[in-house]
Amino acid sequence: MEVEIALLVDEVQRSLTVDTRTTLLDALRNRLEVTAPKKGCDHGQCGACTVLLEGRRVNSCLVLAVTQEGADVTTAQGLGDGQELHPMQETFLEKDGLQCGYCTPGQVYSAVGMLQEAAAGQPSLVTAIGRGTGPGPGTVAMELTDEEIRERMSGNLCRCGAYVNIVAAIREAINHDASTGNEELREVAETLAAPRPDGQAGATS
Ligand code: FES
Ligand code: FES
Repeated sequence: MEVEIALLVDEVQRSLTVDTRTTLLDALRNRLEVTAPKKGCDHGQCGACTVLLEGRRVNSCLVLAVTQEGADVTTAQGLGDGQELHPMQETFLEKDGLQCGYCTPGQVYSAVGMLQEAAAGQPSLVTAIGRGTGPGPGTVAMELTDEEIRERMSGNLCRCGAYVNIVAAIREAINHDASTGNEELREVAETLAAPRPDGQAGATS
């Protein structure tokens, strides 16, 4: 069965007809020629297909396109402005956050998404309990330690284990935009750097 759907992809309105079994990843890549999300495993295990769906990180290979009528989808293709790289892309280059062409878009976009999640106070598996309240109900103000970054990025796996410098690249992106640069990242950096409700300074280290 085929269904016509509309999607907002990287701020461009798109419409297409899809078989109801088509994943969001296949719709993006094969139908809309948005090739930044990569098909690594097609089983939700590698993160190469990571996109932001309505502002939240998802593995697009696990989402049926037909269920996303009208959704806002952003991919690594929409990160830069066409002229300049996004700060997260820049710091992956600067810090040599080495990944192959399959893994890099998912890693970079997952990093952007996970900083937003951390700034919103969404805890991870390694977030210590009892560090005060975060910015919203059910949230906590956490210290964005290297352990936190690794746990939050653990959904992005590659076959070769080339993860050296990714934590450094993400940390650099946070610090870089604490005072200048990308507005979206600056807001995240400021939120993470704000004093915690328990009076302790700085949520990054
Ligand atoms: S291709 Fe989607 S998680 Fe691997
Ligand atoms: S960096 Fe892509 S498989 Fe390792």
